[in-house]
Amino acid sequence: MTGRLLVGLMSGTSCDGVDAVLASFSGTPGAADFSARVLAHAQRSYSASFRGRLLRLPGARAPELARLDRELAERFAEAVSDALQLAGVARDDVRAVACAGHTAVHLPPDEHDEGGTLVLGDGDRIAALCGLPVLSELRAADRAVGGMGAPLVPFADACLLRDPERPVATLNLGGIANLTWIPPEGAPLAFDTGPGNMLLDALVHSRSNGEQTHDSGGALGLAGEPDLAWLQRTLATDDFVSAAPPKSTGRERYGASFLRTHAAALDALSLRDACATLAAYTVECVVHALRTHTPAPPAQLVVSGGGALNDCLMHGLRARLPEVLVADSEAALGVPVFAREALAMALLADASLLELPGNVPGVTGARRAVRLGKLSPGPRSWR
Ligand SMILES: Nc1ncnc2c1ncn2[C@@H]1O[C@H](COP(=O)(O)OP(=O)(O)O)[C@@H](O)[C@H]1O
Ligand SMILES: [Mg+2]
Repeated sequence: MTGRLLVGLMSGTSCDGVDAVLASFSGTPGAADFSARVLAHAQRSYSASFRGRLLRLPGARAPELARLDRELAERFAEAVSDALQLAGVARDDVRAVACAGHTAVHLPPDEHDEGGTLVLGDGDRIAALCGLPVLSELRAADRAVGGMGAPLVPFADACLLRDPERPVATLNLGGIANLTWIPPEGAPLAFDTGPGNMLLDALVHSRSNGEQTHDSGGALGLAGEPDLAWLQRTLATDDFVSAAPPKSTGRERYGASFLRTHAAALDALSLRDACATLAAYTVECVVHALRTHTPAPPAQLVVSGGGALNDCLMHGLRARLPEVLVADSEAALGVPVFAREALAMALLADASLLELPGNVPGVTGARRAVRLGKLSPGPRSWR
């Protein structure tokens, strides 16, 4: 096996499961000779009860945090084994495992408080269970120099996708939607645009009494009509959408409380129409971000995350951005839609082991570029 082999892990805000990607890298990250290849992608879904515990994490007490720190590490280690097995790659051929961890709570700074973040999924335990070196808490070094620790994917996006002629962009439709805009040269821009699947998931979950977790394929939304009056009214008063980057958001804003605030309007709609309306909301937030907060439209928008499988979202993006080539990451890059963030983590760890920084200070607000990750050397001798 040629190239540097690393496994990247990702457990995102949807709390749906963990993705593990075994990737092979060659050349220098950020240089023209760099290339990346996905060798295997493994997914381990969380059970409904485990997902419930993750969703309750912001209010959890220390004993539960301690348990989940261990249990997440165990699930992460299982996903690493799955990826190696799928590719038929021996553990000894792998340089390291990269893990940002699962965010238990993120308190953004405000005028009274510097905030803080707690991430779970103990790197030493993953290293012991996998028998591999682990770079964990990939966001911590950026935070330590004044950054937000997120988004971290822009460095990887620029390595994988930069076009020397035209700006290009990536959009990850996870729970939240994250955009990276990459100019032909210079640092990328990146920020959250608003909800990804989070509002849709919460709506479908509550209307199906917990039977369904999401609008599979976007079938419900495609069969409905959006409530355009609500859409315009709500967009116009959404101060996250209008705020200039850098900005990031989460479940506090686009979770159950958002649906409660808009219950009167949404409850009056059929499930199909409500799905069409919330999908259109996600799309309009992206369109607004591209038109207002980036210097020029991208030639291409590469979409990843589970939302890339939602045709209502994808059709909406194509219809509203006719000047942009909208493609999912599988079609555009050969990277499965659920694998892109885990691939980015592997790439950041690769850079770190090559003694290169992986954060983009202009994006996270960090005072300087830093190498990312806390190293757990694991049982085997480090090389
Ligand atoms: N087949 C599908 N059709 C439509 N949406 C899907 C499908 N599969 C997954 N999703 C959506 O993708 C979400 C998970 O996306 P993911 O990229 O893993 O996000 P996160 O990084 O937040 O975990 C699910 O919560 C669901 O809304
Ligand atoms: Mg996920």
